[in-house]
Amino acid sequence: MPDIDCNRASAMATLLRGILVLYMVLVVVNARVLAPHPFAGEVQQNFISNVFDTSKYGILQLQNGLARTPQMGWNSWNFFACNINETVIKETADALISTGLAALGYDYVNIDDCWSSWSRDLKGQLVPDPNTFPSGIKALADYVHSKGLKLGIYSDAGAFTCQVRPGSLFHENDDAALFASWGVDYLKYDNCFNLGIEPQKRYPPMRDALNATGRTIFYSLCEWGVDDPALWAGKVGNSWRTTDDINDTWASMTTIADLNDKWAAYAGPGGWNDPDMLEVGNGGMTYHEYRAHFSIWALMKAPLLIGCDIRNLTAETYEILSNEEVIAVNQDSLGVQGRKISESGTNGCRQVWAGPLSGKRLVVALWNRCSEKVTITAAWSSLGLESSTPVSVRDLWKHEVVMENKVASLSALVEAHTCEIFILTPQTVTHSII
Ligand SMILES: *[C@@H]1O[C@H](CO)[C@@H](O)[C@H](O)[C@H]1NC(C)=O
Ligand SMILES: *[C@@H]1O[C@H](CO)[C@@H](O)[C@H](O)[C@H]1NC(C)=O
Ligand SMILES: *[C@@H]1O[C@H](CO)[C@@H](O)[C@H](O)[C@H]1NC(C)=O
Ligand SMILES: *[C@@H]1O[C@H](CO)[C@@H](O)[C@H](O)[C@H]1NC(C)=O
Repeated sequence: MPDIDCNRASAMATLLRGILVLYMVLVVVNARVLAPHPFAGEVQQNFISNVFDTSKYGILQLQNGLARTPQMGWNSWNFFACNINETVIKETADALISTGLAALGYDYVNIDDCWSSWSRDLKGQLVPDPNTFPSGIKALADYVHSKGLKLGIYSDAGAFTCQVRPGSLFHENDDAALFASWGVDYLKYDNCFNLGIEPQKRYPPMRDALNATGRTIFYSLCEWGVDDPALWAGKVGNSWRTTDDINDTWASMTTIADLNDKWAAYAGPGGWNDPDMLEVGNGGMTYHEYRAHFSIWALMKAPLLIGCDIRNLTAETYEILSNEEVIAVNQDSLGVQGRKISESGTNGCRQVWAGPLSGKRLVVALWNRCSEKVTITAAWSSLGLESSTPVSVRDLWKHEVVMENKVASLSALVEAHTCEIFILTPQTVTHSII
């Protein structure tokens, strides 16, 4: 009897060993699926610590050549919601040019929900609403292209869009071909009325349909982060929403930044985490709050899609959206999503967010979420720098170098609900041989 028990125990041990080996094989196989970040060598330069890990990034899985840096442009939803028409889209394209925002990189003009009629035509095709888009989408695309801009459209991986227009589920090939025939450059693909079918089944058919058109079309997945798209959407789209819709409040913006932060290691050239479009200029936050919103979105390599009325910008809104130095952080060729690296104070309201940039530089944001002015400090050690490394510090809102040969740490007194953002350039140390 004891022998049998003994045999059982050893059989069990063998089985467990087998399971362990199988598990290890699976881990290795799974790890192989994820290709290294295209700039992994540069990212791992020893002055940058592994807080800027890109190990989960899957290079060029969609491979349509787009989104080498996060997309920039405008989308109609946050300001206009359903109140859109071809006039407002054209005037927005005009305003992108006349304000100079297009020249700074904002080149997608994206129509959100409500452009389509309530039902398909007798041939089963989508039809632009004849009251609001009487000239059709092709004419609009031609107009937008004539300005050197690109046109985006919207549909839904479900039976209906969120505003109950016809969805594209099971119509992927027809709708993609129609969009391509109109000259559309971008598709935002929403998640309403999805019939409970898992997104991994609903989003790839549109990827394949867009690809089959032969027209290069940016594919923006909007499945609200419910099924952790960072884990699978790199193979499917150029960007994927990681959260529910943003709204024009400090609470919404900060909540969304934290949720998006979780997936930083999955982003990179070709595929980006999308914490939703900008609310800058819509009136629900202060100038300082919007400055923090824009700075953090840029640092997180979020799409910079303006969500206000570009035909009617205040000077403050324009100052924020046109900050070329902050835009350059977002569009940096290294393409690594910056992240939260420390928090302290009440409810962690003193925060440091940072990420690596090309040229062995770093972007560092000191983000004050407290209700009063506080000092926030980023220690070189927390950024992966040697404490003795001398660093040049450029303030991206003051537009000037504020410190040279700074060592050990960076501190700033930051106003309530805003963030200061800096580029740190380590200076060369010359060791003279005596
Ligand atoms: C087009 O939409 C804008 C914004 O909602 C509105 O102000 C304008 O009156 C509309 N124009 C027409 C012709 O419907
Ligand atoms: C279609 O997919 C292939 C393979 O990923 C890619 O090489 C090609 O550029 C894609 N074409 C378009 C039009 O997106
Ligand atoms: C805005 O977002 C916040 C945080 O996600 C949420 O608590 C609030 O209910 C939202 N407000 C509206 C009006 O949707
Ligand atoms: C322009 O924006 C201001 C607020 O910034 C608003 O009061 C005004 O009504 C807007 N004008 C138009 C034409 O929309």
